[in-house]
Amino acid sequence: MQVSAVIHRGFAIAEIDDRLYSAFIEHMGRAIYSGIYEPGHPEADANGFRRDVMRFVKDLQIPAIRYPGGNFVSAYRWEDGIGPKEDRPVRLDLAWRSKETNQVGLNEFAVWAKDAGIEMMLALNLGSRGLEDARNYVEYVNHPSGTFWSDLRRSHGVADPYAVTMWCLGNELDGPWQIGHKEAKEYGRLADETAKALRALTPKAEMIVCGSSNDEMPTYPDWEREVLEECYENVDYISLHKYFGNSSHDTLNFFGKVEETGRYIQAIGGVIDFVKAKKRAKNDVHICFDEWNVWYHKREDDSRRWRSWDWPEAPDLLEEDYNFEDALFVGCLLNEFIRRSDRVRIACIAQLVNVIAPIRAEKNGPAWRQTIYWPYQFASLYGRGRALRVAVDGPTYDCQVAHDVPYLDVAAIENAGGTVTIFAINRHLTETLDLDCHLGGFGGLRVAEHRTMAGYGLRETNGPTAPDAVVPTTGTGVAMDGDRLRGKLAPLSYHMIRLS
Ligand code: AHR
Repeated sequence: MQVSAVIHRGFAIAEIDDRLYSAFIEHMGRAIYSGIYEPGHPEADANGFRRDVMRFVKDLQIPAIRYPGGNFVSAYRWEDGIGPKEDRPVRLDLAWRSKETNQVGLNEFAVWAKDAGIEMMLALNLGSRGLEDARNYVEYVNHPSGTFWSDLRRSHGVADPYAVTMWCLGNELDGPWQIGHKEAKEYGRLADETAKALRALTPKAEMIVCGSSNDEMPTYPDWEREVLEECYENVDYISLHKYFGNSSHDTLNFFGKVEETGRYIQAIGGVIDFVKAKKRAKNDVHICFDEWNVWYHKREDDSRRWRSWDWPEAPDLLEEDYNFEDALFVGCLLNEFIRRSDRVRIACIAQLVNVIAPIRAEKNGPAWRQTIYWPYQFASLYGRGRALRVAVDGPTYDCQVAHDVPYLDVAAIENAGGTVTIFAINRHLTETLDLDCHLGGFGGLRVAEHRTMAGYGLRETNGPTAPDAVVPTTGTGVAMDGDRLRGKLAPLSYHMIRLS
């Protein structure tokens, strides 16, 4: 099947915010305990953090990480996680019916994040708590000294303030499952007042207000409109969350969910514009897609288990085994974020370790990378710069969730230094795509690197005993011919092509 495409250096979508490749980690399951932190593990460093996990994290070059939840944050007392570890209380985590030992809290996590070279994006509890606690927390985190909370931080051995700028105003408060669930207007007012107080403490703070938990919520997209009508001028981002599944094993429909996500982003973009116009506001609000991933393999089972278990500590929870199909999907979804980078400035893969994660770590055992690690890594490393428009003319298909879905999913970026990166996925189940892509305005480009994931069975996974079963390999058969990139893309294949 023939596909032609046109890219021109002069036609850009937006400057991509590096934070498009951020991550999220929550105090739940084995994400923190026996995920990133396992004192006594042969790989543990002096602080109890696993070096094997850290190596995989560092290789992703993650710009920012959202912490500590998630549903967990909506009943979390941040003060439980500071001060001498032996004095910290064990609490019941109401979100996941587990025990939280508080052996990792803000200051430990900050050490881990600094070592990983990742900026913290902190979520506030606006479920069971509110403005007063948020204000104390920000003073503890960001004020230099000379006040109760800042001096308390200093007494905990942290002399310099953290200067955290990204603040999430709660989590999924539209969800009836959320501790402290609220009506839209009620939440919008609280978010507005909290944002005002936080900005008084940290003028450069960037506020992320909660959008809907997903685009299937009955209150979507009125929730976004009502919330923004209360707080538009005091916030910078609205959050989107979406998890994806393929329980019916309909691969093309699964891939079509990327188009559905594009509609979700577009709809919220419209709501933002509507509220901005209605309020005659001067500021812009962008999208922070701060939870996304594939989540369905063990979802129902897990849901049954955690609802009836007896408050275990760091249980096995949401440990999805990702397959090759999921890797192709993640590659397409990241492409969609790049194509929508004018609206989406921040996005966080949910989550990072063990819990619906690209990195897994066995308790007292090895760490390994899942299939989805690879497209995420390629996007983070090479998806930075200017997103370019790609006009595609090629075959499409219809499925339950979308019509006219192109078999070729493609995004292009002009990186700093003049390199061009193309991420391309052939979603066709059986046909090779014969690509002919014209690159205008560059001149003299050659294929410098071609990495591919192809030839695997859709259900193939990696695991502790076969960590490299599904990995990228060096691609062949794609070359520049003058100003045209030509080559054959095998059915169900992922490609990262760098031209310089
Ligand atoms: O990432 C798992 C959970 O999914 C988060 O705690 C919550 O915000 C979302 O519903």
